[in-house]
Amino acid sequence: MVELTETVLRDGHQSLLATRLRLRDLLPIAPALDAVGYRSLEVWGGATFDVGLRFLREDPWERLRALKRAMPNTPLQMLLRGQNLVGYRHYPDDVVRAFVAEAARQGVDIFRVFDALNDPRNMATAIREVKRVGARAQGTICYTESPVHTLDSFVALGRELAALGADELCVKDMGGFMPPGRGGELVRALVREVGLPVVVHMHSASGFSTLTAIAVADAGATAVDAAISPFAGGASQPPTETLVGAWKGTAHDPRLDLGALAEIAEYFQGVLARYRPLLNVRALQTDPGILLHQVPGGMFSNLLSQLAEQEASERLAEVLAEIPRVREDLGYPPLVTPTSQIVGTQAVLNVLSGARYRQITEEVRHYVRGEYGRPPGPIDPELQRKVLADGAPAITVRPADLLEPELERRLAELKAIIPAADTAELLSYTLFPDVYRAYRAAVDKGLVDATVTAAALGIVGALRRPRSPPAPTKSAPGPAPSVGVWAHEGRARLMAQRRWVDAHRAHARR
Ligand code: CO
Repeated sequence: MVELTETVLRDGHQSLLATRLRLRDLLPIAPALDAVGYRSLEVWGGATFDVGLRFLREDPWERLRALKRAMPNTPLQMLLRGQNLVGYRHYPDDVVRAFVAEAARQGVDIFRVFDALNDPRNMATAIREVKRVGARAQGTICYTESPVHTLDSFVALGRELAALGADELCVKDMGGFMPPGRGGELVRALVREVGLPVVVHMHSASGFSTLTAIAVADAGATAVDAAISPFAGGASQPPTETLVGAWKGTAHDPRLDLGALAEIAEYFQGVLARYRPLLNVRALQTDPGILLHQVPGGMFSNLLSQLAEQEASERLAEVLAEIPRVREDLGYPPLVTPTSQIVGTQAVLNVLSGARYRQITEEVRHYVRGEYGRPPGPIDPELQRKVLADGAPAITVRPADLLEPELERRLAELKAIIPAADTAELLSYTLFPDVYRAYRAAVDKGLVDATVTAAALGIVGALRRPRSPPAPTKSAPGPAPSVGVWAHEGRARLMAQRRWVDAHRAHARR
């Protein structure tokens, strides 16, 4: 039997709707999801934390607690960026331990821990803390392709994760280009050589994901991630119902009820209809371009806006050719947050400044000095010389070993704003001090979820709001007068940006 993890509550809407689904869109269907018999439900982590505070003005901890109350029978799962937790920098160990312990206490049962460089030292503290608090640790291997990423190197990483105490392994194909043959080979090797259960997480970008799901199941994968059909495909995961149907009556049969899944799909069709203004159709489409340049969708749009700012959109082809060269110079990091931005920005500079590494970003300097962790392969000696010539020397220790404990200091700061702050509030503040301050200010002004929903969806969405299920808790104040204008303006900008992105994607393919 192959088990399924449902991603609609996290990665599904992160991939298709920029993580904008609100708690009240999820709660009405939670009991039905809980009854399906999934291996786990992915509900938290990745962008949900940041987006909750920054855009939805929802407390991510409250979301976790509410989902746990509504779905007590199925293990809840989160995605944790190793030492970066759900943020964008390395946090000291005291913060990592406190965050993991609090997340487990508030309802996370399975922690998927990854690191952008596949450096196990950046996953060690989190995995150990997950084990200490009695939750399940999934040690993650970010899938990528390069001369230094061999079957042996992935198996060696799997062994290191097992040695750290991981209960199971996850193969994470965040770019969505792991071919069925290679996926099967990798899973077979990990099962045979490491001996832990292997879970496979994919995105459908290239169109491989359903084929690869079948191949990894045949190769002995324990579980695969999938999204209920309205939130599947394209930038998201393969469809849950397709896999259930394909495996029906075989040895892999996940034994989930297609009728129950159909009702859940029907519900999410309605949700998607309400968020239609935020949906870019391209996100749902297969993008074979990824097979040529391996640049994930999010990174592609970043490149386009960087080039647009410099009025250099016509140089996209040169930048796409430069990316693999920068990646090679940096020792072939997998392209995932934050390495995708580091490589992409430097490639743009290399093309626009007229000479490679004439300008070097701060991020590349930190990276070359080892401050993100150990790169998978050797860094280009010439680049290394250039960076180390002016500035601090390279480090070889685990980056977090150089960080001072931070929680005490943050607690003192936070007490000035919230005298009775609890651990969850302290962690939100420690991870995103400015965002959290803005969140508190907005909440104190009464700018809570309902008004911000109207803003997020724009006028079209707001007019459709009577169809949305009522908010489960607090009564909603009427929209502030400025919200409509803001929403309309923001939305117009968003649409213009997307049209521009689409036009240039088409241009890049020609
Ligand atoms: Co993902």
